[in-house]
Amino acid sequence: TTKIAIFASGSGSNFQAIQTAIENGKLDAEIGVVVTDKPDAYVVKRAENFGIPVFSFVAKQYESKADYEQEIINILKEHEVQWVILAGYMRLIGNTLLSAYSNRIVNIHPSLLPAFPGKDAIGQALEHGVKVTGVTVHFVDEGLDTGPILSQAAVDVVEGNRSATEAKIHALEHELYTSTLQKLFKKEIKLFH
Ligand code: GAR
Repeated sequence: TTKIAIFASGSGSNFQAIQTAIENGKLDAEIGVVVTDKPDAYVVKRAENFGIPVFSFVAKQYESKADYEQEIINILKEHEVQWVILAGYMRLIGNTLLSAYSNRIVNIHPSLLPAFPGKDAIGQALEHGVKVTGVTVHFVDEGLDTGPILSQAAVDVVEGNRSATEAKIHALEHELYTSTLQKLFKKEIKLFH
């Protein structure tokens, strides 16, 4: 069983999908702790409902990114976390955390990268008028949504309908993230470069 931490800043629907897949025996993992930079985010409620510990922090209360990332690393070590799983964590990972968890940090992004990195990828795709968008699971490096890609899946845009497009993307995210993590932890896919 692989011990993981989920990092999230928002609703936490991906957190919930991962925890549900674990409980249903579809993902051989255990969430040791949820880390959030938004103490009021709904993900905190969801984690509490599952009885999973939460570490909340407020970045501006620290002198530097290195300072709060070192505190996060201490928490991860306490919980014997092996992999860091970003699920709507809206903050760049710094060198401190990247070197402590080298090639052990994964992210999900709601577009077919390298298209539409950064914030509001779904809005960016609709604004651009693409007909197909999707979901990417990738390793995290120092860039913004730039690390090596592990898996992707496509979604047809529902024209003129943001909420329907969003719903399709979120449903696909939940499916793709859990199946990709299972393959990664079972060493059926790995980093080749
Ligand atoms: C997800 O769509 C995720 O792909 C996106 O935030 C959402 C979080 O939803 N992440 C990014 O945009 C990262 N650049 P959730 O809180 O319901 O899991």
